Amino acid sequence: MADKPATATLSFGGRSLELPMQSPSVGPDVIDIRKLYAEGDIFTYDPGYTSTASCMSTITYIDGDRGELLHRGYPIDQLAQKSHFLEVCYLLLYGELPTAGQLEDFETRVTRHTMLHEQMLYFFRGFRRDAHPMAIMVGVVGAMSAFYHDSTDIADPWQREVAAIRMIAKMPTIAAWAYKYSIGQPFVYPKNSLDYAANFLNMCFAVPAEDYVVDPILSKAMDRIMMLHADHEQNASTSTVRLAGSSGANPFASIAAGIACLWGPAHGGANQACLEMLREIGTVDRIPEYIARAKDKDDPFRLMGFGHRVYKNFDPRAKVMKESADEVLALLGVEDNETLKVAKELERIALEDDFFVEKKLYPNVDFYSGIILNAMGFPTSMFTPIFALSRTVGWISQWKEMIADPQQKIGRPRQLYTGAGRRDYIEVEDR
Ligand code: SDX
Repeated sequence: MADKPATATLSFGGRSLELPMQSPSVGPDVIDIRKLYAEGDIFTYDPGYTSTASCMSTITYIDGDRGELLHRGYPIDQLAQKSHFLEVCYLLLYGELPTAGQLEDFETRVTRHTMLHEQMLYFFRGFRRDAHPMAIMVGVVGAMSAFYHDSTDIADPWQREVAAIRMIAKMPTIAAWAYKYSIGQPFVYPKNSLDYAANFLNMCFAVPAEDYVVDPILSKAMDRIMMLHADHEQNASTSTVRLAGSSGANPFASIAAGIACLWGPAHGGANQACLEMLREIGTVDRIPEYIARAKDKDDPFRLMGFGHRVYKNFDPRAKVMKESADEVLALLGVEDNETLKVAKELERIALEDDFFVEKKLYPNVDFYSGIILNAMGFPTSMFTPIFALSRTVGWISQWKEMIADPQQKIGRPRQLYTGAGRRDYIEVEDR
């Protein structure tokens, strides 16, 4: 006799409801509440979705207690050591590690989509030079639906595939050109002879006036940073892409919505905010003052790059990023970097402090990334655009999974209404 499927009994107001449960391949069981309102005339309440599974997914799994991140089952630390960004892109998009032939074909397809429509240059030129690169990225990516009409029909699997390749391929060009525009240098076009990360660095740092050779160590570090940011379950920006896409919005508009969400300092904007915080602290002796502020309930200050909704142990990406920071800064001969010293001492003090231990606050992916990017020559304003170009593969993989999901429907949460009950209009003379 097959085990009866598990159910959850919900008792309220003298009634009880049997709700079906579902078991994942890994992680906690879920209570399927899809019929709760129809059968029980009741909502659940979960602002910030701390206990809510918004969808079914096969792409990424995070074990927050063990500090584990799996992409299609493969641990991030193994991928960071043994793989490279475009191979991880293939894994996230198609579910399996590619054969040598599949990888070569995929890399060729991405390489041949790295150029932007020439008319898009005018978009960049419409911005002020001091526009934040994230503002440019949101605008340019949203505008892509005005240029790439042959990959906006979400009902056509081939157009969804082309849109995915285009997004992954063009984001480094958009990010690099936003940077070049902000520093008043000419745009550098993609070079098909370079790999993905090297091509991005070349577009950022080459100038027409002289030859530029990409440092292979920096290119490898850049590629690893991209891998570490590729996807992360249903984080705020991925959930934004899914919600935007659930209405049938085209992929470029949905990704632009995700970029806008990532910009916030509580999310992808934390890498910029974290480096600015480390610079504000300045020296190791000022750390206690900031630790005290982070603990002060009346002070809105938070340690940027610390804490996470899911990880209640070390963010595995932060561990790899910290190793990369040591390597890159040593290779660049900046090991006596004061900011790195402050970061390491801040981490040491925080991890011994009861406040952070009790709240399970550990460094997250944003804590060390800015130190590496700064050492590579990027201004803080480029940190979140680099996060966005890296996360594009996660956004587009999750978007494709949602569109193909037979259970998907437009996302439309309900609410706990606490406003005024029904009342009649009052003429102005009677108010
Ligand atoms: C990313 O979701 C993802 O997967 C995101 C991401 C991804 O790859 O997509 O991992 C990328 O966004 C990483 C997080 C980057 N953000 C920051 O580093 C900003 C600083 N961190 C915090 O703002 C905060 O930790 C969040 C936003 C990351 C998580 O917030 P939660 O889950 O809503 O937790 P919370 O705000 O309820 O905090 C729990 C407690 C609170 O204290 P109490 O109200 O219980 O007394 O911990 C405290 C918070 O005050 N707290 C912090 C803190 N983070 C949380 N106190 C001091 N410094 C911090 N950084």
